Amino acid sequence: MRFQTLLAVAGLGSFPLTHAATGKSFTGWDCCKPGCAWQANLRNVQGSPKVCDINNNGLPNALSAKSGCDGGTGYLCDAYVPTPVSDSLSYGFATMGGAANCCKCFLVTWKSGNASGKQMLVQAVNNFEPAGDVKIGDIVILTPGGGNGPNETGCRSQYGKNWGQSGGGVSSGSECANLPQNLQGGCYWRYNWARGAINKWDIEYQQVTCPSRLTSISGCSA
Ligand SMILES: *[C@@H]1O[C@H](CO)[C@@H](O)[C@H](O)[C@H]1NC(C)=O
Ligand SMILES: *[C@@H]1O[C@H](CO)[C@@H](O)[C@H](O)[C@H]1NC(C)=O
Repeated sequence: MRFQTLLAVAGLGSFPLTHAATGKSFTGWDCCKPGCAWQANLRNVQGSPKVCDINNNGLPNALSAKSGCDGGTGYLCDAYVPTPVSDSLSYGFATMGGAANCCKCFLVTWKSGNASGKQMLVQAVNNFEPAGDVKIGDIVILTPGGGNGPNETGCRSQYGKNWGQSGGGVSSGSECANLPQNLQGGCYWRYNWARGAINKWDIEYQQVTCPSRLTSISGCSA
């Protein structure tokens, strides 16, 4: 990015100053301690992502707490649910490939699917290893009932169960009624605001300055 900027300033070519990445959107919520909440994943990051106990209260020892998916006390806080602010914009949190995006924020625009044209400001607090349909460059939006992915121990130990398929989660808004009360709104968000499952819809996204609306929840920025 810096290299392209220098070339453009020097007039050596018409390189774009900012480059929109493309990928596909997915959903997930495995209840595990978010993957960015480890010191090794926090390079050039201010603060560290909030981690909660089994009752969704913030843990003081977030970085050292063992994951609830590993027999520990650290879980994904219910405060990371997606929130609509208008019909065309939502705020929320995301799982992205690798640790390099930890605590960075992105403006995501849907390019296909029922949310086409809608936008979402997300902050990465979790990371994934590419598996199955989910590839580096894709964004998994933290959505309760969005699927537990490869890890079925988190929600089972925090809430006693998982909801829907491991990939994709519940398949309709009405199934959101099966989630605990504190997670239902975030589950309905997908079918009400995005108007569909979200899985594999095309997205375009660009890094943006993190808004306080997200950093005040996560406790980190980059
Ligand atoms: C589930 O999460 C724990 C803790 O992060 C991890 O040790 C374990 O490997 C994960 N299991 C799978 C199947 O990904
Ligand atoms: C898009 O919306 C229509 C109408 O509500 C619905 O029938 C369809 O299942 C939705 N598509 C997806 C991929 O969710």
